[in-house]
Amino acid sequence: MKHLLKMLDLSAEEITDILNTADQLKYEKKHNIPHPRLAGKTLGMIFQKASTRTRVSFETGMYQLGGYPLFLSSNDLQIGRGEPVQDTARVLSRYLDGIMIRTYEQSEVEALAEYGSIPVINGLTDFAHPCQVLADLMTIREARGQLDGLKMCFIGDGNNMLNSLAVGGLKMGMKVSAACPKGYEPDARVLEFAKGNPNFFLTDKPEEAIAGADVVITDVWSSMGMEAEKEKRQRDFAGYQINSENLKLAAPEAMVLHCLPAHRGEEITEEVFEAHADEIFEEAENRLHAQKAVLVKLLG
Ligand code: CP
Ligand code: NVA
Repeated sequence: MKHLLKMLDLSAEEITDILNTADQLKYEKKHNIPHPRLAGKTLGMIFQKASTRTRVSFETGMYQLGGYPLFLSSNDLQIGRGEPVQDTARVLSRYLDGIMIRTYEQSEVEALAEYGSIPVINGLTDFAHPCQVLADLMTIREARGQLDGLKMCFIGDGNNMLNSLAVGGLKMGMKVSAACPKGYEPDARVLEFAKGNPNFFLTDKPEEAIAGADVVITDVWSSMGMEAEKEKRQRDFAGYQINSENLKLAAPEAMVLHCLPAHRGEEITEEVFEAHADEIFEEAENRLHAQKAVLVKLLG
């Protein structure tokens, strides 16, 4: 593994290896065992969109590993004034040991990896959010002891989260069902990957997708960059909410996850969110451990 660009690039063995390392790093952190596996290494973190979890977990994670993180807002970089990503990649490769980038186009992340000579980590694009999905898989495995055979259900927008959850879940032997309104299905590359897999089920009816699910997941109806479509999306997604009624159709004791930030009253009710807050905030914590594992694999 040279980069973390999208879940489609990872094998089941690589995912398992990352999750095992993440569990180990979580154990070391909880027991105050120092783990400076990346002493002297630097990570540049380019942000073209807002972030709470990704920024803080990468920044503190890099510090805990003995390395040094640099927060690089695109407003302050020449990339924000039009310097090509191909040149930025070649320059930053001469200073840094790794780059994390949060941006819009997946092609920009792929170009950074192609032109640079250091590992690149996708910290979210419009297409993918692999760091979040590694943390989600870690959280499910931690709670249930396994991934294989469990049913994951996603209700909502066929966005970066569903694109990455579907691929990651299927690779790990999970059953993946998704309910999206017509016109909001996952990306064609994901549908192509899932084509013919009996473990994949796509519908526009939430009650069909959620039936018997062990893990129920949702995300905002309007992702970053879609602000102009917000009102139309609120109309189109009415009915695609996780609430106490449809959660009754899931397996008893089903987990509920949300990558956050959440919009209570839209994709999830306040009641369901608070009833599952322990799982959701464990998921948020696991961003730290899963990303430290990725950093160790790529920069170590
Ligand atoms: N879930 C997630 O990526 O959160 P941030 O946007 O706060 O980084
Ligand atoms: N789908 C959301 C995820 C935020 C972490 C977005 O892209 O804004």
